Amino acid sequence: MRRYHVTTFGCQMNVYDSSRLEGLLAAKGWALAAAKEEADFIFLNACSIREKAAQRVIARLKELKPLKKARPEIIVGVGGCLAEQEGVNFLAKVPFLSLVAGPRRLEEIPALLDTLDPHGPAVVLAGDSPKVATKPIYTPKKADLSSFVTIMEGCDNYCAYCVVPYLRGREKSRPEEEVIKEVTQLLAKGAQEIVLLGQNVNSYAPNSLDALNEPPFVSLLKKLDALPGLARLRFTTSHPKDFSLELINLFGTLKTLAPSLHLPLQSGSDKILKAMGRKYDLNRYLDLVANLRRVRPDIALYTDIIVGFPGETEEDLALTIKALDLIQFDAIFSFKYSDRPQTKALNLPDKVPEEVKTDRLIRLQERQKAISLVKNEAHIGSTVEVLVTGLGRHPGQLSGRTGGFKIVNFLGDSQLIGHFSAVTITGASATSLTGELLSPLNESDVLSD
Ligand code: SAH
Ligand code: SF4
Ligand code: F3S
Repeated sequence: MRRYHVTTFGCQMNVYDSSRLEGLLAAKGWALAAAKEEADFIFLNACSIREKAAQRVIARLKELKPLKKARPEIIVGVGGCLAEQEGVNFLAKVPFLSLVAGPRRLEEIPALLDTLDPHGPAVVLAGDSPKVATKPIYTPKKADLSSFVTIMEGCDNYCAYCVVPYLRGREKSRPEEEVIKEVTQLLAKGAQEIVLLGQNVNSYAPNSLDALNEPPFVSLLKKLDALPGLARLRFTTSHPKDFSLELINLFGTLKTLAPSLHLPLQSGSDKILKAMGRKYDLNRYLDLVANLRRVRPDIALYTDIIVGFPGETEEDLALTIKALDLIQFDAIFSFKYSDRPQTKALNLPDKVPEEVKTDRLIRLQERQKAISLVKNEAHIGSTVEVLVTGLGRHPGQLSGRTGGFKIVNFLGDSQLIGHFSAVTITGASATSLTGELLSPLNESDVLSD
């Protein structure tokens, strides 16, 4: 039996793409190899969002050289956004590659492997697929408790720093019926939570004949909310420029929509936001936050921040830190600006030196750490609903997530994994909560397993 080994880098969309690829390989009789050394096909699904992400993949590929030398019959392939970016150039960097496949071409791989000669010339697949218009429904044998479903791909926003539009192509939405069917099947296979994915889910725009007077993403969420068996619904990522009032209101009306939102701010300085081409200013963002909290006071808010964008001054950083103080995010994901090929920012003047970026990142993260700690401590004494996803770090501990996406560790029986538990919060750090099990929320759920 042929064996495969897939390693995934980058965002949730790459995770989703990898699981589809693995599912398609399994359907063609491939088995999962316990280790790379035992695989006939080794595949790295790569990311290119920052230079470091790209370098990491190239280093990992180069580590495979001795293995390929010892067993020349294995097929080593690279995929995802970095494969799209490099295309045929990848073969100069890593000469023993047999396959380079961009993110829109991964589904062609299983058929290709039937004929690909590991000793022959490499195959490079990039750009849009000539054949694949929609994604066939993908359902694994057993769904993850929290399962990803990509609803749209690509991006038309061209933020000045970002390489994604060049690598994932123009925005393309999956038909609504296809999404609903995939979600239904995942729920039937044990998923409790569904996370909808897209570079900007707000611009979900399937060619639907449904002439409803609301954004198609709002209409999709309403339909998914009504599906039996769905406990929690999340989505990521959305863009502040087109986050509609209708969408905000759903946080107050849909029973399954979890009270957490990842809404990338990028900077608190209007000058930098403009240079980034984000098409909103801080005031617009603050309005969104106020409206979200009006509709759902307990909503947990997460964001992305880039420090050291070209032209960023100390004053601009001060404005970003002030924005963190004002908004009180639950947590942030923060990055040093990284030059990416093809992007507008690559050619901007006033690049910020690396050591200044590092210093700014540390200061930003320190301020946020204090805010996150206070936010998390506010949960002490309250009882939260935890979807138990696995074992915790310490013996006897379980781990799970609240509706607000906070990690909670608590002592409990491993039978609770896969179910909801009521947990009273007794402790907090900047990154997680600890608690005591009050009760499994749904006794019949636990016993019926
Ligand atoms: N589509 C998502 C972002 C995907 S990339 C959105 O618009 O929200 C995830 C995050 O990586 C971005 O939000 C941004 O903060 C960061 N990022 C993207 N390009 C970057 C670059 N060139 N340098 C540093 N960070 C970057
Ligand atoms: Fe990149 Fe901007 Fe598109 Fe997000 S919205 S993927 S940051 S170009
Ligand atoms: Fe990376 Fe591509 Fe995702 S560049 S972050 S894998 S969209």
